[in-house]
Amino acid sequence: MNSSTAQIPAGKGRIFSGIQPTGNLHLGNYLGAIRNWVALQHDFESIYCIVDLHAITVQQDPAQLRKSTREVAASLIASGISTEQSILFTQSCVPQHSELAWVFNCVTRLGWLNRMTQFKEKAGKNRENASVGLYSYPILMAADILTYKATHVPVGEDQKQHLELTRDIAQAFNSIYKKDVFPLPKPQIFGAATRVMSLRDGGVKMSKSDVSDNSRINLTDNPDIIMQKIRKAKTDPDALPSEIAGLSGRLEASNLIGIYAALADCRVEDVLFDFGGRGFGDFKPVLADLAVAKLSPIGDEMRYLLKNPDDIDSILTRGAEKASNIARPILAEVRDIVGFLGLSTDQMIKLNQDH
Ligand code: TRP
Repeated sequence: MNSSTAQIPAGKGRIFSGIQPTGNLHLGNYLGAIRNWVALQHDFESIYCIVDLHAITVQQDPAQLRKSTREVAASLIASGISTEQSILFTQSCVPQHSELAWVFNCVTRLGWLNRMTQFKEKAGKNRENASVGLYSYPILMAADILTYKATHVPVGEDQKQHLELTRDIAQAFNSIYKKDVFPLPKPQIFGAATRVMSLRDGGVKMSKSDVSDNSRINLTDNPDIIMQKIRKAKTDPDALPSEIAGLSGRLEASNLIGIYAALADCRVEDVLFDFGGRGFGDFKPVLADLAVAKLSPIGDEMRYLLKNPDDIDSILTRGAEKASNIARPILAEVRDIVGFLGLSTDQMIKLNQDH
């Protein structure tokens, strides 16, 4: 058994995942990611990180970043991330992420980064003007994961390429230094049914940046607003089909049925079995009631937490402490392997603890 597997508790893998502090989260974030994080924490040792270092790869307003960081923490806690069972913290509080990212900068080839499609999308036409941080974003992501030698990473489809790069970096490091240091983390891609689309256009993803607030259900929306948004959601004039084939080409119908199935924790087939032949006039009120029942307790809890920001901060501090305890010895091992002349591992650990 090598050192990377030795630290993982028997029978459990270690999960790491990150979420951007982009302010108010919505139903798409909840059904697409957060709900899976909550479920996975029972089967894995789970480390969940609010990635504020990644956020500054594009310009941020400092006050807004602080606010959004607390909001995302509140959403995660309110959605059921247990801060006893899991580790929840902010990335910038554990400097080992940045340190490992530098080492990985020196292992990663330009050619690998040049293939990253998300950079091309985010940088757009004016690539010369994008920050170097945006370009090396995936290297920091690899560092996030491997600072903890995580074995499994729950991510959406859009992050799959970054995870493949993480595996390439882990492999390159292990081969350059001829030591089996890092595991090759496996993606846990979320199911297709959880891809939540805009309530105004079934062809685009539900998004925080959509100009129409009616296109999304925010986790902080009150029951009246949730009801209203579902009532106004775009549909077509036909009745609901009884079988999946009948949803083909009906993007809005598919989206609403998918949301119902995800919230009710059942299969799309089951929803169609119950509602096939009935119109949206029947279906929408039932969907609205279900959405309110599932989401309004989360909104209430978030509002409560956000009134007590010190409590959120102390939860995150405790999380950062637990994360540091795992990260510190792993980075000490990396420094040693790379050949940095320094204090002994024990002394380094102490130095880092003391400040
Ligand atoms: N890039 C991820 C996203 O935008 C967020 C992220 C940062 C992440 N570090 C990570 C996800 C490590 C998984 C593991 O969704």
